[in-house]
Formats: sequence, structure tokens, C-alpha cells
Amino acid sequence: MHTSINKRAVVMGATSGMGRLVALGLLGRGWTIGIAGRRTDELLALQQTAPERVYVRTIDVTHDDAPQLLRQLIDEMGGMDLYFHSSGFGRQNTELDSAIENSTVMTNAFGFTQMVDAAFQYFRQTRRRGRIAVISSIAGTKGLGAAPAYSATKRFQWTYIEALAQLARMEGLDIRFTDLRPGFVRTDFIVGKNYPMQLTPGSVVGHILSDIEKGRRVRTIDWRYRMLCFFWRLLPQWAWERMKIR
Ligand SMILES: NC(=O)c1ccc[n+]([C@@H]2O[C@H](COP(=O)([O-])OP(=O)(O)OC[C@H]3O[C@@H](n4cnc5c(N)ncnc54)[C@H](OP(=O)(O)O)[C@@H]3O)[C@@H](O)[C@H]2O)c1
Repeated sequence: MHTSINKRAVVMGATSGMGRLVALGLLGRGWTIGIAGRRTDELLALQQTAPERVYVRTIDVTHDDAPQLLRQLIDEMGGMDLYFHSSGFGRQNTELDSAIENSTVMTNAFGFTQMVDAAFQYFRQTRRRGRIAVISSIAGTKGLGAAPAYSATKRFQWTYIEALAQLARMEGLDIRFTDLRPGFVRTDFIVGKNYPMQLTPGSVVGHILSDIEKGRRVRTIDWRYRMLCFFWRLLPQWAWERMKIR
């Protein structure tokens, strides 16, 4: 991504993993950023890397005041060109532990909806050109027996962004969308798990920044996962439901 003087982005879920690296990547390219998440200490530590260009808000996307806090952050920054949503939660949950399923739905469906809606409303009200980019997952490709709420909420995110993209065009708004769908990435999210084909956070964030710059609408990361998802989609439903994927 080219150096972008005066460009402003909010990164939701900037306290760790891919969100944190995206925030650092944007900073390195000259952006002013607003960073948010629940862990204030992590946000303040990140702010120290460039105090004059980093604005901080502690936000829990599942709380009712989250959209209002996002709007305050945007106003404090003097506007927003990019809203980047990385916040997410998920666990393997074959036991259907309701605490896990409910937290997943609250974070990835309810929280996701109210935050991307708040970003959309900002661009709509200001008639400002902007981009909403989100990290969903390849998990939305099919229902996954090992992670029911996670796979279902990631599919929800795909569909929600598609709907907002259509709505923006219906209203003649200059809002663009990027849906980033990585495979397994070695972050805290999957720490201790022995999943195959793990990608490094640095390489994935390199793809993410480049895909945003190119204005891609949807991107599965990386090519091996593009092939895997291609074959998953070819399977008839009866065959998919007989597969044991853990
Ligand atoms: N790692 C993978 O294998 C993988 C693969 C595909 C997609 N993804 C997706 O990538 C995204 C980022 O995950 P990651 O791998 O970078 O893991 P991570 O390091 O665990 O990051 C998760 C981020 O979400 C934030 N978050 C969680 N609940 C939140 C809440 N209620 N309110 C606000 N922020 C919240 C966390 O911040 P706080 O805890 O400070 O709130 C943290 O910054 C997630 O949406 C995940 O589903 C991950």
C-alpha cells in the first residue's frame, strides 16, 4: 500500500493478532489510525509507537454503547476513510457449550452488525467516500460440525457485507467493501491447536493490505485455501455431511 498522508482508518480488534499487525502496517504507510478493542493496556502500548497519529477507545463490540463510542473515536480523529473490522471470537465446540455458542453469536453476528452498520451510517451521513474491510474466514464456506456457531456467523458476515454493498449502490453511496477470508492463521485465536496448513500472521496481513489497496471485493487467503474451498464447494450436500473435519 502506498504512503497515505492524511488518510484515516479505524481498526476494531487492534489489541492482538491480525488487527494489531494491520494497525501497524497502516501506521507504517503514513495513516492516522483509531484503534479499539477491550484490552486498554494493549491499545495504550500500541499507541506509544506513534502517539501523534494513534487515537484509542476501549470498545466491546457486544455492548450497546459500542456504535456511539466508535462515532466519538471517528470524530476525535477528524474523520475516517477506512473501517477495518478484525474483532472476532470462536472455538471448536462439539459439546455445544452454550456459553461458547452464545459468545460467538454475540461477537461475530450482533457485535459485527452494529459496528459495520455504525461505519456505514458514518459514510452515509457524511456522503464521504470510504471502505469497510472485514476479516471473516474460510469457515463460512460450509457448516462445520466442529464449530457450528463460528462457521454460521462467518457465513452471516459474508452475506451481511454483500447486502451492504448492494445497499450502498442502490443509494449511490461511494462506499466500497472488502471481505477477507483467511484459512488458519498462527495467532492467539488458535494457540495450542495442531491445525494443518497454518499461515503466518505477517504473510496474511501482507495480503490484506495489498487487497485493500487494490480494492478487492472478496479475497480468500492464501492460494492453497482458495483451492481447498473450491473443492469444498463442489461437494454435494450428502457427501459434505458425511465428512469428518476436526
Ligand atoms: N487465526 C485464525 O486462524 C483465523 C482464521 C480466519 C479468520 N480469523 C478471524 O480473524 C479475526 C482476528 O483474529 P486473530 O486471528 O487476529 O486472533 P486474535 O489475536 O485473538 O484477535 C481477536 C481480536 O478480536 C478482538 N475482540 C474479541 N472479542 C471482542 C469484543 N467483544 N469486542 C471488541 N473486540 C473483540 C480482540 O480484542 P480484545 O480481546 O482486546 O477485545 C482481538 O483484538 C477474527 O475475526 C477471527 O475470526 C482468524
